[in-house]
Amino acid sequence: MIQQASSFGVLSRAIKQQQLVLKCFNPRDYAEDKHRTVDDRPYGGGPGMLMKVEPLEKAILAAKELAAKKWAAKETAAKATKVVYMSPQGKPLNQQMLVAQAAKMAAAEPEDLILIAGRYEGIDERIIESLVDEEWSIGDYVLSGGELAAMVIVDGITRLLPGVLGDDDSALQDSFMQGLLDHPHYTRPEQINDQTVPDVLLSGDHQAIQRWRLKQAIGRTWLRRPELLDAMKHDASRWDDNKASLLAEFMAEHE
Ligand SMILES: C[S@@+](CC[C@H](N)C(=O)[O-])C[C@H]1O[C@@H](n2cnc3c(N)ncnc32)[C@H](O)[C@@H]1O
Repeated sequence: MIQQASSFGVLSRAIKQQQLVLKCFNPRDYAEDKHRTVDDRPYGGGPGMLMKVEPLEKAILAAKELAAKKWAAKETAAKATKVVYMSPQGKPLNQQMLVAQAAKMAAAEPEDLILIAGRYEGIDERIIESLVDEEWSIGDYVLSGGELAAMVIVDGITRLLPGVLGDDDSALQDSFMQGLLDHPHYTRPEQINDQTVPDVLLSGDHQAIQRWRLKQAIGRTWLRRPELLDAMKHDASRWDDNKASLLAEFMAEHE
C-alpha cells in the first residue's frame, strides 16, 4: 500500500530527488512464529483482534535504530524521532500541524517521523504509553487500517518541504495556509458552452487579479467555513479594513 501510494506525482518525485526518505517496517517481518502472526486476542474478550505486541514493538524499535544509525553515520543531520500513532482517537489533523512538522523536518537538525499504522481494533495501550509520543487522527471516522492515514500525513508534509513543489510559494496560496479557503481557478478554454472566465482574470491587471482572488477566498470561506472567518476576524494580526471591505463587497454581490 505504501509503495503504491508513494509511486505517483509529487511524492514519488520527492523520493527520487532524495528530498524525502520513506522506509516501511512491516511487523510481519518481525514475527517469530512460523505463521508470522501479527494479531492477538484482546484481554476481556469481545469481538475483534489487536495487533500483537512483540512484532509491532520490534518494528518500531527497528525504525528507531535505523534513524539512530543514520545519525551516527552522519548520513543525516537528524537527531530526534517523533513516534506518532495514527488513531481515530488522536489529535485531529490540520494544515497547521503539517506546516509545523514540515518545518521540523526541514530544520538544520531535522526530526525523523515514525508513523504507526494500526490494524484490527488497534494496538495495545502499553505500546502507546511506552513508545508513542503523539496520536494523530485524520478525521472523525474509522478506517480499517492506519496505512492510508499515515500516507495522508506523508503526502501533506512532503509537499511543504522546501524545493518539493516547483515554486515554494505555491503551497502558500492553498486553502488553510493563510486561514482562508483558496479562490476559484480557471484554465483554457476561455468559453465552455455558456460558461466564461471572469473578465478580471483576462485583464492582465495583476493588482486587480490579486484583489479579486482575495475577495473570492474571503467570500468562499464565509460561505463554506464561516468558523474560519470568525477566527480570523477575532485576530487583529490577520484581519484588516481591506479584508472587511472585500467581504462586504462579496456579500453584497452574493445577495
Ligand atoms: C479499525 S481501526 C481501530 C479503531 C479503534 N478500535 C477505535 O475505535 O478507536 C484500525 C486502525 O486504523 C487506523 N485508523 C482508523 N481510523 C483512523 C483515523 N480516523 N485516523 C487515523 N488512523 C485511523 C488506526 O491506526 C487504527 O489502529
